[in-house]
Amino acid sequence: VNGKLVIPVVVNVLYRTAAENISDALIQSQIDVLNQDFTATNPDFSSTPAEFAGVAANIDITFVLEQVIRKSTTKTSWGTRDAMKKTKQGGLDPTSPSTTLNMWACTVGGGILGYAQFPGGSLATDGVVVDSKYFGLSGSGAYPYNLGRTMTHEVGHWMNLRHIWGDASCGSDLVSDTPVHKTSNFGVPVYPYVSTCLPAHNEMTMNYMDYTDDRGMYMFTNGQKSRMAAIFVSGGARAGF
Ligand code: ARG
Ligand code: ZN
Ligand code: CA
Repeated sequence: VNGKLVIPVVVNVLYRTAAENISDALIQSQIDVLNQDFTATNPDFSSTPAEFAGVAANIDITFVLEQVIRKSTTKTSWGTRDAMKKTKQGGLDPTSPSTTLNMWACTVGGGILGYAQFPGGSLATDGVVVDSKYFGLSGSGAYPYNLGRTMTHEVGHWMNLRHIWGDASCGSDLVSDTPVHKTSNFGVPVYPYVSTCLPAHNEMTMNYMDYTDDRGMYMFTNGQKSRMAAIFVSGGARAGF
């Protein structure tokens, strides 16, 4: 990285229906949400409970939309095995994946909102997928996944963040300033949400790496910021940025 980290983004749109052919304006709204969420300028950041305000972070990474690539298809759903990332399978290969964040907007199916590839994987499949319905601010997807936070969560994974519950009962996310969570949380838990993991403490249900409703997630932590920053330094898995 030379100075401030600005991530170039290419959005790959795969559509069969008009609704799947999401507009440039909706795509820009998603970039705007990401820019807010990764600079702690999202309007709900100030809802962070005082208990967690000291660790709530400005990640200080911004995103710039370089290109939107559109392709029509006859596929009704793409699944979660990377077919949308392969031109040979009817999808679209990523553009310059060592220096560009590729996003795919398509119908995933199976009730999946989106999925991401962690750093260190194959460049040919690198990037994040978010179902067309949940792409952008107030897309066609109904409440409670209508605020573009699926992308914030997926880009968190793409930058090496684990789920806050560590995908295990009272598991670890390898970040020390996020509290231990029993499991994934849904809806919008009311603070304080007391953990059943010991010793007694409150869970940080408003962290982007939990599974709450879009309006219930609005912060990353300093520890998560360090974990993200580490992949972009020389020798890191995304040093090309
Ligand atoms: N289930 C997805 C994943 O594990 C994303 C969940 C995003 N949550 C949300 N409120 N948009 O990557
Ligand atoms: Zn996730
Ligand atoms: Ca933790």
